[in-house]
Formats: sequence, C-alpha cells, structure tokens
Amino acid sequence: MPILKIDGKDIEVPVGTSIIEAAKKAGIEIPHYCYHPGLSVAGNCRMCLVEVEKFPKLQISCYTPVTEGMVVHTQSERVKDAQQAVLEFLLVNHPLDCPVCDQSGECELQNYYMKYGLYDSRLMEDKVKKHKAVSIGPTVMLDGERCVLCSRCVRFCDEVTHTHEMGIVNRGDRAEIEVAPGKEVDNDYSGNVVDICPVGALTDKDFRFKCRVWFLAQTPSVCPGCSRGCNIEIHWNKERPYQTPGERVMRLKPRFNADVNKFWICDEGRYNYHWIDQGRLLKPMQKRRGVPHEVSWEEAFGTLSGLFLRPQEMGVIVSTDMTNGDLAMAQQLFVSELKVKNVAYQWIRKSGKEDELLMKADKTPNTRGAQALGFEDRSGEIYEQIEKGQIKILFLFGHNLMEILGKDQAEKMRSHLETLVILGPHAHEGINLADWALPSAVYAEKNGTFTNFEGRVQKISKAFPPMGMAKSEREILKEMARQAGIHINLTV
Ligand code: SF4
Ligand code: SF4
Ligand code: FES
Repeated sequence: MPILKIDGKDIEVPVGTSIIEAAKKAGIEIPHYCYHPGLSVAGNCRMCLVEVEKFPKLQISCYTPVTEGMVVHTQSERVKDAQQAVLEFLLVNHPLDCPVCDQSGECELQNYYMKYGLYDSRLMEDKVKKHKAVSIGPTVMLDGERCVLCSRCVRFCDEVTHTHEMGIVNRGDRAEIEVAPGKEVDNDYSGNVVDICPVGALTDKDFRFKCRVWFLAQTPSVCPGCSRGCNIEIHWNKERPYQTPGERVMRLKPRFNADVNKFWICDEGRYNYHWIDQGRLLKPMQKRRGVPHEVSWEEAFGTLSGLFLRPQEMGVIVSTDMTNGDLAMAQQLFVSELKVKNVAYQWIRKSGKEDELLMKADKTPNTRGAQALGFEDRSGEIYEQIEKGQIKILFLFGHNLMEILGKDQAEKMRSHLETLVILGPHAHEGINLADWALPSAVYAEKNGTFTNFEGRVQKISKAFPPMGMAKSEREILKEMARQAGIHINLTV
C-alpha cells in the first residue's frame, strides 16, 4: 500500500485511493462540492484543489490517485488562493438569499465561505437571473440561482436510480439544472437529491420552511418502513414543547451504513414519519357500559393482571413492528410464564413494493426478530378459535382489526370475545372495539433493536419521551406481570 504525506502526516492507503479520501482518513478536510463518495467522480467544481510536490499545477484531489512518496499540501498559500478564487466564481451569480433559504445552517457555500473564502466582494454587475422555486417533482423544489452545477443530482439519477430525469442545459453563466422534457423527478428515491445537493438549490417540499436546521436535534435510528432497516437520523425540533398538536419530528435523513443502505433511503421510508406525532392514543382507556373512560396505569395494571389467571382462554397477537425487547418481554410473559398456547404474530404489510436497490416487500421492520424469538404467523388459527369460543381474552399489539379484517368481520370477531385488550400507539377506529386500550410508545420514543431481513440486529435510540402517558410494550407488560407476582428480568 502506498505511503504518502499530507500536510506533514504520513498516511498509508490502498492503491487507487484518491487524495481526498486519503486526507479524510487522516482527519484532514478538503473542501469539495462535486465529489460524493457514493457517486462517480465528475471533477468539475475545482473546490478540492491541492498542491502536490513535483506537479507544476494544482491538482483536484477527488480525481488524483495517491502514489508512493507523494507529498501533498492542502493549506499552502497557492491552495488558499485557489479556494478563494473558486468560491468567488461560484458566488458571482449566487443570490445570497440565505435568510429565506432552507439550507441555511447546513450549506457548504456558507460554510466554505466562512472557512476558506472571507474575501470582500468585487462584484459591481447585476447577477444573472435564473428560475427560482420551481417544482420539479412531488418531493423536490429547484432554485436555479443557488445551484453550483456540481452535477451530484444528475449523477444520482443516472447512476443510482437509473431514471435519468435531470441534466445541465446551456453553457457558461447561463448553465442551469433542468428536468428532461415531459419528466419529473418522481423516482422512489427522489429525496436523496436534496440530501446530496451541497447548497440550497434543491429543497424538500416536506421540510420547506418548517424549521430552521439549528433547532434540530439528531438521533440515530433505523427506518421501520420495511425489513431492509436503513440507518437513519431522526431530526426533531428540540425547541418546541412536546405535546399534541405540535409535531416533534421534522424530517428523517439517511445515516451511512456501508452494508445496509450506503448513503440512501427511499421516499416511502423518508416521508413515513408524520404518524409519530399524529392521531396518538394518549391515555389508558377502559370501556364501561360501552363508553371509553380514561383510567390510570395503576387501575389498568391492577385489573388486567387478573386476566393472567385464565391463560387457557387467552390469545396473544404481537406485531412485527415491535422491537426485539418488546417481543422478548411478550414471549417471556405469555409463553414462558403463563404458558399461553395461542401466541402468534400477525404479518401485515408483507407484500409491498420491492426493488433491487433498497425497498423490501415486507413493510414491517422486525419480522426476522419475531421469528428468531419463536413467534409464528398463526393469527388465522387464533381468529378461528375466537369464533369457536375457545379464546375469550385477546391481547392485540399494534394492529387495527378493522383494517386487517374489515369492519363487519372485526365486529363479529369482537362479539365472540369477553375481553379485548389493545396495546398500540394510535387512536384508530379499531380502538373503539377494545375493552382496554393501552397507549404504547413508537420507535422514536424508545431504545431497542430491530432485526432486518438478512438477520442484522440494529439499534434504535430514543429521541424523545413517549407522548402523553404512553409506555413501551416492554414496560407495560413488565408492570402488569409484577402486579400478578411475576418478575421478569430481561436485558434485551
Ligand atoms: S441542484 Fe444541487 S446537486 Fe444539483 S447540480 Fe445544482 S448544486 Fe449540484
Ligand atoms: S428501503 Fe425500507 S428501510 Fe430503507 S428507507 Fe425505504 S422503507 Fe425504510
Ligand atoms: S470536488 Fe474535486 S473537482 Fe469538485
């Protein structure tokens, strides 16, 4: 492996590594616009120029491979002059509308100007006007004046999604990003072009003007949108008090994982978060004479733990949206301790869209985890036994019976039960069937793990506290068990 020197540091990297990647490995930042490690090298922005000894001209570090004994300078006067000049060119026609730009605070034009620019403007002429606030698809807006023509978005649509919607038209200072005639950027991964746009030229319709980025906290998590388990960051507003109707989650962003999702996530997963803060079940409810009443957790635990005396009349249907810890607690309590025979998962949302890139047909995050814990999809048998009157008490996790069975069938099923206990995060219409409705936390409100389709166990982290009085399924079951004199110690 070649050894080179960057800014006086000796670095050993594999043959073929570019200078920019070698520098990154040594903790040295080289500013860049067009380079993105998930795309081919375009070498068009010239922001990454470095000085290489024995080379007469400055070299673009994104394209130049290292060689044995190479000596590179990223901070020399020549490099600084070049960086300043590139920024000055890029900003000649830039509208400087940072105060109304969503990218402000995470924009590489702003950041690099402050770090490498800091020149006084010499521009006396009018700026070239381009198209602004153009809708180029269901998720993305384009501002042509803010674009630095790095072509990352074009390469993404050519190389990752192979949908070829975007291109650069015209030349010189009239050059602009455009969408191919009759097309829209409406591929299944369109939101990624916003992530990789280094400036505010491409913005996300879902996020536009919702929140300044410096108000956002970031929590690492895993997308629950399908069994791929793409690594994500939950960006949530730390300045807004958490309570309905205020939304806490502002957006989801991909988190790099070389083995799972690389740099990308799909749009289905990206925009699938509004449910976290909407339509939530906030308090435990008990139906009395057909009317739901709010109750305390103590009342709920006290009464419901009494049902544990009748395990032979009990059925339990868990969900593949639950974390491994929640499922393990259900398994310990109902299977190991109470010896309930009829415990199963119901596999819903299992045949959605699948593709070669990331999307999996199973639109739940933890089917493999449920299977690894010994659960099987025997929900059909449980419904049969309910109809035969053999199961009188049903613990249902997360599911909406109305949605799964249809209204008539769900009501019929309900009529065969003596007690229906639903643990779930949402106050959907199926909740009205329950004798007990217990609010549970969503994935963003708890720590835990999901096991993806290939058996990879991945951690999710709690971004903020559960809404209202919600608790994780694990806590609810543990407390109910404790009331019944059963102590379960689980470290999952
Ligand atoms: S829109 Fe953004 S990603 Fe696309 S070329 Fe312009 S600056 Fe680059
Ligand atoms: S591919 Fe699946 S896990 Fe990845 S972002 Fe899309 S829905 Fe989420
Ligand atoms: S990052 Fe190297 S030329 Fe653009």
